[in-house]
Formats: sequence, structure tokens, C-alpha cells
Amino acid sequence: MGQKISRRQLLRTGALLAGGLPVANGLLGKVQANPLYPSGYGMGSGADGTIISGSKVWAEREIALHAPAELKARLFANENPFGPSDKAKKAVLEALPKSYQYPFMFLRDIYQKIADHEGVTPDNILMAAGSSPLLQAAAICFSKPGGNIISGDPSYEDLPSKAARFNEKWIKVPVTADYKLDLDAMEKAVDGNTGLVYICNPNNPTATVLDAEKLKAFCERVSRRVTVFVDEAYIDYLPDPAGMTMVGAVKAGQNIIVARTFSKLYGFAGLRVGYIIAQPDMVKKLEDYTEGPMSISATSLQAAIASYQDKEYLQDALKKTLASREYLYDVLKKEGYSYIASNTNFVLFPIKMDGEHFASEMMKRGVGVRSWTLNNSNKWCRVSIGRMDEMEAFAAAFKELS
Ligand SMILES: Cc1ncc(COP(=O)(O)O)c(C=O)c1O
Repeated sequence: MGQKISRRQLLRTGALLAGGLPVANGLLGKVQANPLYPSGYGMGSGADGTIISGSKVWAEREIALHAPAELKARLFANENPFGPSDKAKKAVLEALPKSYQYPFMFLRDIYQKIADHEGVTPDNILMAAGSSPLLQAAAICFSKPGGNIISGDPSYEDLPSKAARFNEKWIKVPVTADYKLDLDAMEKAVDGNTGLVYICNPNNPTATVLDAEKLKAFCERVSRRVTVFVDEAYIDYLPDPAGMTMVGAVKAGQNIIVARTFSKLYGFAGLRVGYIIAQPDMVKKLEDYTEGPMSISATSLQAAIASYQDKEYLQDALKKTLASREYLYDVLKKEGYSYIASNTNFVLFPIKMDGEHFASEMMKRGVGVRSWTLNNSNKWCRVSIGRMDEMEAFAAAFKELS
């Protein structure tokens, strides 16, 4: 993360939205103020006034202020254009007239539904407006001066990048040759100062998944020494989510936090619903660091209640995603590109030019994608899986550049 870039430079690349997001590339950017960490908070930006580029807040602010409103294909944020379900949309409309009320009442329902499905109790659950606030809560809660956090590299940087503001060290463990999180090396990296190990499974951006038994054994061993945070944002895209989840480790009493979100297969990225499953004392501890469930709107909560485990919808959205993914694979193969086989609604593949330039050229053609750095090369593209018309727009633009 040596490179610095001014906000103006970054915008001039035209690549911000299309994949040059600093979250991904580890750039540093100067900002006037970081709303997440006001100065009184005792942390915030580095000594030279820069912030670590993992700032999702900063990147998202730039998107909000500068992104073009309309794109032919919006393939940069791993959203699910096949959602939300009809039941969820109907629930939002029906919830509207009473949305002057605080949403206390709905929490009981959704907590109970999740608890019943997962075989835990409501005391094991903490919800928030998306899983991001819960990732942030863990980042704050498990960090201290002199401490460290361990994550894969590349992996989803939101939690560890925030933790890095409080800790002394962010230990990034490179993925294996087959692009999976290197559990052995991550375990070896744990020391007396480790506050948290962050496991993103399936991993964003590589879209790889770990062997379930190996991960279970890892959780069992490592959670005796330190809290393990397993981010299962994309688990619903796997053929057998129940066989892969680490909720069983929570049920076995282990020191594990499992994070889930409605933002992906449920299509709730804009409705904002997420949750964690953990030991009751951990839930209480983390609750102190978030607004918690009262930050979720009544409309979103009722949509979540209406669509949670709606098998028909979930299967249909998954089927459409997989069809678009197969189409993308064919396009890449025809153009002579390889890709990392995906277990999610996005695909990471090596490109033949500078990633930011590529993303910027794609954006000029109305297609938003993200560039990425892997194995010290910035020649990687992460493309989200969209509707078929979006994948066709991707194909048309890509053929002009490949
Ligand atoms: C791995 C992972 N975890 C968590 C999130 C945060 O999602 P949300 O706050 O929408 O629940 C994302 C978003 O893309 C993600 O990729």
C-alpha cells in the first residue's frame, strides 16, 4: 500500500466507479473528513492526513457524488438484479402506512425465523442495516494499540481495513496457488497480539470456497486462541449452504462470529438487512458498538420477514445467476481468457492491460466493472453477474478491448 493518489487524480482516471476503487487497490487518498471516524474518536487518519484506502465510506461517497446514473451494465458491486422477491416488494408497500412507528415489533419475528432455521436462539443473533455495520463493530471491538488482525490477501477489506486504524498491524496472508484462503498460513500468523482472524468464505474477490471440513477444523483449533469471524455473505450461492456454514461451530460453543447478509442472493443491497450469529455474550458485546437492529427500517424488516428462506424465489434467482455466469464463461473462453471458477455472483479473471485503464475503457462503453490487484499484478478484473442483457453489454464492450 505504498502508492498515494489525490482525489482529483483518482477521479480523472474515470475509473473510480468502474473498478479503481481504492478499497480494492490499496491506494491512499486524501480526504477532508472521514465521517466514520470523527476526530474526537481518537483514531482516524494517518499522521500525514491520509486515510488508509480501505475506506469504503470514502469510496462510496465518491460513487454517490460522481457516478453516472445510468449504465448499460452495473457489474461492479456484486448486487443481485434478480431480487428482491415479489413477496419482499409487496411487504414493503404494505409496511409503508405504519412506517411512522419504530420497528421494535418486527424484530421478534425475524430473529425467531432465523433462529428456527439455523437451530440457534434469538440470543445468538444480532441484526443491523446490512452486515457492514456488524463488520465495523467487530473491527472496533477486537482492535487495540499494538494488536493485529489477520485476513487473506486478496479478500474483502472492509473489516480488516477498519481494524487497521486501531491496531498496529494488518497481517495479510496471500491466497494459495489455487486462489483459496491459506488457512495453514493464517493459523501460523496468529500470535498473542491477534485480536481477530477474518475469514471470507466464499472469498471476495477470488470467488473461491474452502473445504468445509478443513475450515471446521481450523475454527475449532484457532477459536480456542482468538475470535474467528467468518463472513458468509455469498454462502447462498453455494449448492449446499447448510453444509458449508460455520453456524455449527457457534452451536458447539466455539468463539466464532458468522456474518450473513440479505444483500446478495436476496437482492436487498438497497434495503439493507444483515446479521451475525454468535455466542450470546459476544452478541451483547458487539451490540454496544452498533446501532443494531433499530437502524433497519420497518419496511426492510418486513420485506426480510416476507422473503426469508423463500425457496422458490431463491432457486429462481440462483438459476438466473448461474445462466448468466455460464454465458460469461463462454465469452471469456471465446476471447482466449482464463478465469477463476466462481462459487458466487462474481468472477475474477486476469486481463491483458492495466486494470484501471481497462475498467475506465469499459466504463466509457457503459459497463461498470472493478479492477483488482492479485499476486502483485493489477491486471485483474472482477465482474459481477447481472441480467443476461447486462452480460451481453459486457461481452460487446469486452470484445472491443480484448
Ligand atoms: C464479503 C462481503 N461481506 C460483507 C459485505 C457487506 O454487505 P452489506 O453491508 O450490504 O450486508 C459485502 C458487500 O459486498 C461483501 O462482499
